[in-house]
Amino acid sequence: MRGVGLSGGVLSTGLLEQEAQAAPPAAPVSGPAAVPITLRINGKSVNTSVEPRETLLDTMRNSLDLTAAKRVCDRGTCGACTIIVSGKVMYSCTMLAIDSQGKEIETLEGISAKNHPIIAAFVANDAQQCGYCTPGFVVASKGFLDKHPNPTYEEVKKGLGGNLCRCGTYMGIRQAVVDAGKQLKGGRNA
Ligand code: FES
Ligand code: FES
Repeated sequence: MRGVGLSGGVLSTGLLEQEAQAAPPAAPVSGPAAVPITLRINGKSVNTSVEPRETLLDTMRNSLDLTAAKRVCDRGTCGACTIIVSGKVMYSCTMLAIDSQGKEIETLEGISAKNHPIIAAFVANDAQQCGYCTPGFVVASKGFLDKHPNPTYEEVKKGLGGNLCRCGTYMGIRQAVVDAGKQLKGGRNA
């Protein structure tokens, strides 16, 4: 009943039409089927397709053959899935792959390929047992050293608080980071 309205502030169809015209355009919708995405990982662009609900961790492990980051708690608690995203240490199990486009992602594979001193320092300090936490700790350590070169043991203890080791290798890990920091200060950067 077009044009029917009531006086005294009661809605009319004309008013409803005006409101509809003023509403912001609907946001674009992706999915639920897989959509193509491009990620920047370890300095290279990689193309894949993901369902919008897929985490970056699952995309790396299941589609990109990057399995260093581990899926342990899958809820942002343990740090086994740690990566570096545009300079920030992040849990990849808490990020959507589709939202990770346009960012520079660094994984243990990239850190290892550059032979960063933290790798040898972990070995020299016997800083692993079962190894489940180790990839995440190495990446977190590298990200920490990027921002805190040549840290003290106490600074490392605080700085790596987002990663857990059920085998209790914390002392070796912290000493490895201190040692790697000394090497980096001495000029051997990666
Ligand atoms: S698997 Fe991501 S924080 Fe534990
Ligand atoms: S070495 Fe086993 S959980 Fe850390």
